[in-house]
Amino acid sequence: MIADDSKGHELSLFCVPKHYEEDLDSVIIPNGLIKDRTERLARDIVRDMGGHHIVALCVLKGGYKFFADLMDYIKTLNRNIDKSVPLTVDFIRLKSYSNDQSTNCVKVIGGDELSALTGKNVLIVEDIVETGRTMETLLKLLNECHPKMVKVVSLLVKRTPRSSGYRPDYIGFEVPDKFLVGYALDYNEYFRDLSHICILSDSAKEKYKV
Ligand code: IMP
Ligand code: MG
Repeated sequence: MIADDSKGHELSLFCVPKHYEEDLDSVIIPNGLIKDRTERLARDIVRDMGGHHIVALCVLKGGYKFFADLMDYIKTLNRNIDKSVPLTVDFIRLKSYSNDQSTNCVKVIGGDELSALTGKNVLIVEDIVETGRTMETLLKLLNECHPKMVKVVSLLVKRTPRSSGYRPDYIGFEVPDKFLVGYALDYNEYFRDLSHICILSDSAKEKYKV
């Protein structure tokens, strides 16, 4: 739980790409902390879903870093426990954002046929839940295909009055109502190439506006 008045860490204490130095207010979640928390999420997920085959469904593009690291931790557990769980992966692309505003329409842009998930234990892996609309839309689509079980893990959940009240099954960090970038989270496609999760500055919102 990261408090609303949390100032984060000064940028100069960490390594960030030169081309983004002017665009960020602070580092709110350093890369190492993301990984340590992800390791624990992997353990909780295997405890709950273990014993059955898991289809991990990555929500692109923002979820790809978290997805890759989470899968690595689950694979490490699988190598080291008696009750290992087979894991397959799938990818879906959704889009709901323009500039820093969640739009009303959630578009499914790509991915395999969701019908392949019928009867499966599905783990949806998402970067951030804000209003909850994206996830509610995806869950509705997915449930039409009758999977056996669906769990959602989101690295971040934003505390915001715009929330529909939707809560994922597993949450990495609860964060203040600010626009966050890095670790694959973007602003108009920029900042995915930043390892730490950072608070985007107001001037950068103007600079990278489309
Ligand atoms: P929701 O439908 O409002 O819950 O929005 C979810 C989607 O909006 C996420 O999957 C992100 O792609 C995007 N999003 C929401 N907040 C942020 C943010 O602070 N930084 C980057 N992307 C965000
Ligand atoms: Mg997303």
